[in-house]
Amino acid sequence: MIIIETPRLILRDHISEDLEPLHATLTNPAVVWYLPAMRMEDVEQTKAYLISSMRDIDAAPRTRYNLAVTDRDGLYLGEIGLHYIDGTPDDAHCGMGYFMRPEYWNRDYATEAAGAVARFIFENGASRLSASCLAENLASRRVLEKCGFTQEGLLKNHTWHEGEWKDCAVYRLLKDEFIGRKRLVP
Ligand SMILES: CC(C)(COP(=O)(O)OP(=O)(O)OC[C@H]1O[C@@H](n2cnc3c(N)ncnc32)[C@H](O)[C@@H]1OP(=O)(O)O)[C@@H](O)C(=O)NCCC(=O)NCCS
Repeated sequence: MIIIETPRLILRDHISEDLEPLHATLTNPAVVWYLPAMRMEDVEQTKAYLISSMRDIDAAPRTRYNLAVTDRDGLYLGEIGLHYIDGTPDDAHCGMGYFMRPEYWNRDYATEAAGAVARFIFENGASRLSASCLAENLASRRVLEKCGFTQEGLLKNHTWHEGEWKDCAVYRLLKDEFIGRKRLVP
């Protein structure tokens, strides 16, 4: 069971009690607008996602971490996910994604959570963390920038979204860049 603590947050593996807030979050149109693959049609679909995330806890080797983000009192705020990219030796290359409940947006929570998982993954052998989002998703880009990610590219007309091709912004954070920062986030 992974538990990562930050000044305001706890990032932890899922428990079955997460089903209700997770389902409410993943059926909220504002949350899934930029995450169409995460849009849940019914509670059975959310339950399958939750069970799959909980199975990862005992996987050996473990290649995926879908972590609940809560406040220090256990209130569910959202989620942050890490996955090792297939085929990279020694678990060196990891991808990251996240979503938060809208009522808690713009309080620096996603930034605090992303900084904490970056530290976690770099302390556990990874050397590179990748993330991408639609270029128009300014909140997500801002989270990555606040965590010290560098934009490596802009993939033009890359992603089919809501009836049109859109640009995708691609970011990276290397272990050396993270460790080298004077002020780690948060
Ligand atoms: C992306 C997301 C996780 C950010 O969560 P959060 O907890 O609000 O993030 P933070 O508070 O740490 O940072 C958000 C930053 O974006 C900025 N921001 C938010 N909306 C913005 C907008 N429309 N335009 C420009 N900046 C915006 C905020 O001002 C803040 O920056 P600041 O601290 O410099 O003021 C949240 O918006 C979300 O869940 N969105 C839906 C799911 C999603 O898009 N996930 C990412 C898919 S790649």
